[in-house]
Amino acid sequence: MEVIDILREVSKRIYENVKDLAGTEHAAGDFGRGAGGDISRNIDIIAEKTVLDYLKEVNFPCVVLGEECGRVELSENPKGFVIMDAIDGSANAVRGVPFFCSSLAFATENKLSSITDGVITNLNNGEMYWASKNKGSFFNEEQIKVHNKDPIYKIVGINTSGATTELMKKLYPIFENHNHTRHFGANALEMALFARGLMDIFIDLRDKIRIQDIAAGYLIVKEAGGLLLDENLNPLDADLSYDTRVSFIAAANQKILDEIMSQI
Ligand code: IPD
Ligand code: CA
Ligand code: CA
Repeated sequence: MEVIDILREVSKRIYENVKDLAGTEHAAGDFGRGAGGDISRNIDIIAEKTVLDYLKEVNFPCVVLGEECGRVELSENPKGFVIMDAIDGSANAVRGVPFFCSSLAFATENKLSSITDGVITNLNNGEMYWASKNKGSFFNEEQIKVHNKDPIYKIVGINTSGATTELMKKLYPIFENHNHTRHFGANALEMALFARGLMDIFIDLRDKIRIQDIAAGYLIVKEAGGLLLDENLNPLDADLSYDTRVSFIAAANQKILDEIMSQI
């Protein structure tokens, strides 16, 4: 079985196991703080267990870097790292807002740039976004590309959750100059929508994004032809560490990037 097939199969299993839980009291059960620093909810634990159980079942030799469970070594001779955000958008999942997903990626080395496979599954409907290095990005079975024409409505994704006053002041011109700004509350699924061409740029300059939030989106965006840059407009890369926090800009092309960056 190829790595991508393992990640796709386990994503389907997460969907099956959590699809009826969103918005229920059962989903919200508090398990204390996870390795990523947030409260682990029952829905997070059920989804992570689905992944760990399946990787053990197929004897996949890897080290799992889970957002809640932390580092789990499943083999003494691992082929690489499975970077797992079993539920991205936990607040939406717990409240029943239908926008949350799972994000799973495989990396051969300790760097985002060594990711070879990524899968993001919309856990409200089972739709799957996936990519393998140099093989393109897909939405279910259809190849996807970022939006590379002048859009009818320009949609600017911008994550401002918990942003400082200083950052909000910096970003203000974007809000003033654009009528269609969006933030939906699940970073990975937002990157997937961007890769599918549904947003023209997606910006998160809060320095809060963990490797689990971005790993699968990193490859899916790049394989769909998007630019993926850090806050200094250099190609994004980072260590696969629990201390890593990144800011990023995913842009469909240089024109939209220049337009937005000239405003802030
Ligand atoms: C969160 C979501 C959210 C982003 C936060 C993340 P979680 O992940 O991706 O959109 O604003 O920074 O922590 O906690 O729901 O897995
Ligand atoms: Ca997350
Ligand atoms: Ca999570």
